[in-house]
Amino acid sequence: MFQIPTWRKFLAITPLYLISTSLFAAGQAADTVAPEASTGLQEQALIKAKNYMVASANPVASQAGYDILKAGGSAIDALVAVQMALGLVEPQSSGLGGGAFVMYYDASKKQLTTFDGRETAPMDATPELFQDEKGEPLSFYTAVVGGRSVGTPGTVKLMGELHDRYGTLPWEDLLAPAAQLAQEGFIVSPRLAESIKGSAERLSRYPETKAYFFNHDGTPREAGSKLTNTAYYETLNLLSTYGPEEFYTGRIAKDIVTKVQGIGDNPGVLSEQDFANYKVKERTPVCLPYKQFDICGMGPPSSGALTVGQIMGITEQFNLAEMGPNSPEAWQIIGDASRLAFADRGRYMADTDYVPMPEGLLDKSYLAERAKLITPGKALDSVAPGSPQWRFPIAQADDIAIELPSTSHISIVDKDGNAVSVTTTIENGFGSNVMSNGFLLNNELTDFSFKSFQDGYPIANRLEPGKRPRSSMSPTIVMKDGAPYLVVGSPGGSRIIGYVAKTLIAHLEWGMDIQQAISLPNMLNRFGTYDIEEGSNAEAFAKPLTDMGFKISVRDLNSGIQGIIVEDNQLLGGADPRREGLVLGD
Ligand code: GLY
Repeated sequence: MFQIPTWRKFLAITPLYLISTSLFAAGQAADTVAPEASTGLQEQALIKAKNYMVASANPVASQAGYDILKAGGSAIDALVAVQMALGLVEPQSSGLGGGAFVMYYDASKKQLTTFDGRETAPMDATPELFQDEKGEPLSFYTAVVGGRSVGTPGTVKLMGELHDRYGTLPWEDLLAPAAQLAQEGFIVSPRLAESIKGSAERLSRYPETKAYFFNHDGTPREAGSKLTNTAYYETLNLLSTYGPEEFYTGRIAKDIVTKVQGIGDNPGVLSEQDFANYKVKERTPVCLPYKQFDICGMGPPSSGALTVGQIMGITEQFNLAEMGPNSPEAWQIIGDASRLAFADRGRYMADTDYVPMPEGLLDKSYLAERAKLITPGKALDSVAPGSPQWRFPIAQADDIAIELPSTSHISIVDKDGNAVSVTTTIENGFGSNVMSNGFLLNNELTDFSFKSFQDGYPIANRLEPGKRPRSSMSPTIVMKDGAPYLVVGSPGGSRIIGYVAKTLIAHLEWGMDIQQAISLPNMLNRFGTYDIEEGSNAEAFAKPLTDMGFKISVRDLNSGIQGIIVEDNQLLGGADPRREGLVLGD
């Protein structure tokens, strides 16, 4: 039987803002935030520790990981506890019904590796899944809401396999905190309450989802109210007793398939066979040598490491350090580098188990050539994909997929120096809006291009049975002298790439500490519009960047960056003030 630790009883009955305040008060003394790092938003303290540290998007989840680390658990043990808690307290972003990418540094082997727990397209899916009878792409939410967009979830198998390889505490102990919180009740956070309100119409379409996220009178659950989730408790009990396989070959798989296929207005084609065949894939990290560092991340099916790597490799050709964070020209170079990288992403990047990809996307000579296209002080007039080295090139068309902000990021370092950087998702906020067994099912299949061909040329990220949709998730570990130096990542759809690149540049080039780098106002450019964070002092860049030729969009840029620096035998952690993230360590 699961036991509730004392702290969790406290969390179950305490409003989140009090938890947040008290947990922060227990942390280390705040360092001063440099003026140039001030966002004009809430400021947050850099957290310091000696032995271990966890940073996640929610205080309850961070506390679950912290307790495991304190009890002697490994980084992977803590990750399992954090993910199980996030699936309960931040259900709109990630959970058992979704997928994740993991970068892992094994301190005993001095080895960095990655694990792909991305969802797969059902074997019965056709390339026309997201097209109407005339072959035109469906509108985004027509595709998203219901069973059609649900891919085979990978998160549970990923957690199970990582635990088998790197876990030290019993599996059931890692599920116990979230299970008992589900049974006893947790406090709805302000962010979850706002998200429910913002998605109320879609969340009301299906009875199980409606019953969970709304009160009996039909009003959305409020911040500070207590929510129990008996179905989630029972699911964790099943997984605790029978192991992760129960999810793939047992009752849970059957339930999900029945639910997905039975959604009357928008059924899906996921089958029990898809669950039984699901595989976690270990893949070689993608690394860019950068000054004295190696910036390493997740390769295909994520576009994260390649696109972040291209931005860093192109901007490296300029002296950003000398220009500094207050220079409009520095941001012009970052913006144009990002546009060039996104052009390559749209043309070339997808699941390379299904489509070929150029080998030279991170070649230094190629990135130097791309950098030559940039004129400091003047925005690029036009942007097109380049011609990286490719032994057997094929003609392809560009893909511009619809990718809205979503997802969650977790960074952990344990007492033995193992490090894990994980970005985890159910895709859009609340995924497909379909719930089964106490958790939401993903809509990851809408990360595929809705069209397969353009002007007769194939699109690399087209939907194919068994394929994994291209992602932007960029869990990153920056290596220095063969060991982890910075563990970082963010949610945010395709904006993830810009959020991570900004944090890397702010720290590695502009010398900001990790909290300052995270808090620095977000400015990014994906497909042409220069997005500037609304309400931040970065709005001052709108005029000079307009004068250089950019189209500007001042808007909400809600990153959720979590980062840990490993330096001089200490751990320095930062969490994003734009969300509810919390760093805890000893
Ligand atoms: N669904 C978010 C991503 O994979 O980038």
